[in-house]
Amino acid sequence: MTTRLFFIAGNRGERFVNERNVRHERLKKWVTEMAALCRPDSIHWCDGSQEEYERLCEALVRHGTFTRLNPDRRPNCFLARSHPSDVARVEDRTFICSRRSEDAGPTNHWADPDEMRATLRRLFEGSMQGRTMYVIPFAMGPLDSPLVKIGVEITDSAYVVVNMRIMTRMGRAVLDRLGADGEFIPCLHSVGAPLQSGQADVPWPCEPDPAKKFIVHFPEEPAIWSFGSGYGGNALLGKKCLALRIASVMARREGWLAEHMLILSLTSPAGRTHYIAAAFPSACGKTNLAMMQPTLPGWTVRCLGDDIAWIRRGADGRLYAMNPETGFFGVAPGTSAQSNPHAMHTFERNSIFTNVALTPDDDVWWEDMGVPPPAHAIDWQGQEWTPDCGRKAAHPNARFTAPAAQCPVIDPKWESPEGVPLSAILFGGRRPSTVPLVNEAFDWEHGIFLGSSAGSETTTAALGKAGILRRDPFAMLPFCGYHIGDYLAHWLSFARSGDRSKLPRFYFVNWFRKDDRGRWLWPGYGENSRVLKWIAERVEGTATAVDTPIGRLPSPEALDISDLGLDAEDVRKLLEVDVSGWRREVDDIETFYKTLDDRLPPRLAEELRNLRARLG
Ligand code: OXD
Ligand code: MN
Repeated sequence: MTTRLFFIAGNRGERFVNERNVRHERLKKWVTEMAALCRPDSIHWCDGSQEEYERLCEALVRHGTFTRLNPDRRPNCFLARSHPSDVARVEDRTFICSRRSEDAGPTNHWADPDEMRATLRRLFEGSMQGRTMYVIPFAMGPLDSPLVKIGVEITDSAYVVVNMRIMTRMGRAVLDRLGADGEFIPCLHSVGAPLQSGQADVPWPCEPDPAKKFIVHFPEEPAIWSFGSGYGGNALLGKKCLALRIASVMARREGWLAEHMLILSLTSPAGRTHYIAAAFPSACGKTNLAMMQPTLPGWTVRCLGDDIAWIRRGADGRLYAMNPETGFFGVAPGTSAQSNPHAMHTFERNSIFTNVALTPDDDVWWEDMGVPPPAHAIDWQGQEWTPDCGRKAAHPNARFTAPAAQCPVIDPKWESPEGVPLSAILFGGRRPSTVPLVNEAFDWEHGIFLGSSAGSETTTAALGKAGILRRDPFAMLPFCGYHIGDYLAHWLSFARSGDRSKLPRFYFVNWFRKDDRGRWLWPGYGENSRVLKWIAERVEGTATAVDTPIGRLPSPEALDISDLGLDAEDVRKLLEVDVSGWRREVDDIETFYKTLDDRLPPRLAEELRNLRARLG
């Protein structure tokens, strides 16, 4: 095995990055052990430099994994097509291997850690043969943040390396920060496709057998092992695996919160700014809301993050949210100048597209992009495509990976090491019926009840059936690394210490309400700023609300919608309490709560009883 030397220019002069100048003996020992297990042809310690990124992108082009897009239209952008079996997170192959099964809880797949380790060691044995093993030191959070966590991902995928460079702070600076004995979370990843000598490679190597894919978390070590998939959250281990599943366990122990939430700032015409975090299940428009262009004159939304928020209490008693990522890994189909003009600008350059269509002029296209389809294109599977061929050009879970710094409305505080103080936390989901446009919680505990009952119609971000309501508490169903009942208790605990009045207020929003004929009742997108305005004014104590059995709803005149031209009956429906629908809702929440057994916090059982009683 050879170690490739990579030349970097750092502020301490020119240095090579290789194991000889890595000072961290424990890290080197782990890398050596993993190399002995996986048997790569060579090892590449990533320095995180632009030169390294470009060199790897070039190599991916030569290899056939990447197609360089038209440099005039989309400079430094690439398209990748995955194997058709490797297109989304694989929740049914995602495991939490806590020592005790009951600590993983009903929302996770549990496996015995010793048995799983033995299974994984067999799979990883020789799994990198014929390939390079990349060592990626990465940080989740700014390096000077009190919450920063460092991981080291070992992977045999150069595609993963270049995506990790967009999504995380990675390379030499992280190694420097680790020093000789800093803590790091080991993350081992292999696409699971060793090459025999002389065997030709394929553009997207992976393990096609779903039963042999494993996304495994050992929360008590902590460690992450991922085998068989090269796609998104299965392979970019800083994101869902570390920053949510593993971090949620660390956060509970250390007294903070790792959440599946966007972070935005909302500034009023008077110049008052509120920071808001919002939890929505996958593919419910989090990226669109995070960088929304308000239709209300004088109001500004800026983006601090579109997927993950790490939240801790500040010295002043308020909750501060920080985005641990540096990029967006967003769903491309449906992203358009109407749904998200700022995202369209964000990925104009220096971005990677996966599983979208390639146009004849080497640009990208996808369904609902807001531009007419090309007369012909190459679809996400590399086939000739025409608008009437009956197939989708882009996979519904096709993605863009784009640097957050390129977002035209990135908030100046997005890299603040302390994070930003939250005024409000929103929950949402695709709820065609029952759930009103916006509902304010009575208090902290009621807000956690609302968050615990969040749910959405399923989509394709996770493999599974679309169009079925699944309860997704705090949008953390696939991402909470421990028992979801204990997770809810952890949230409740924040009101038991400290000043309750400093805590953010909770709101439940629903942009996805439909009438009986399936027509949307609410225009959504930039018009959602009208709901955000009401929320800001509630926080400031200037907007009115009416108490209802389910929470506080805007009084009709308090919502700034008079110029929207909405049908009065539609507005009534958007803000009504559908009592019979809510009775069914209570039954359904109860069914979900039963799955938590004795870990359901008694306070939430009480909230459910109170809601039933209020509904009469
Ligand atoms: C995501 C997801 O990719 O939630 O962000 O699936
Ligand atoms: Mn997400």
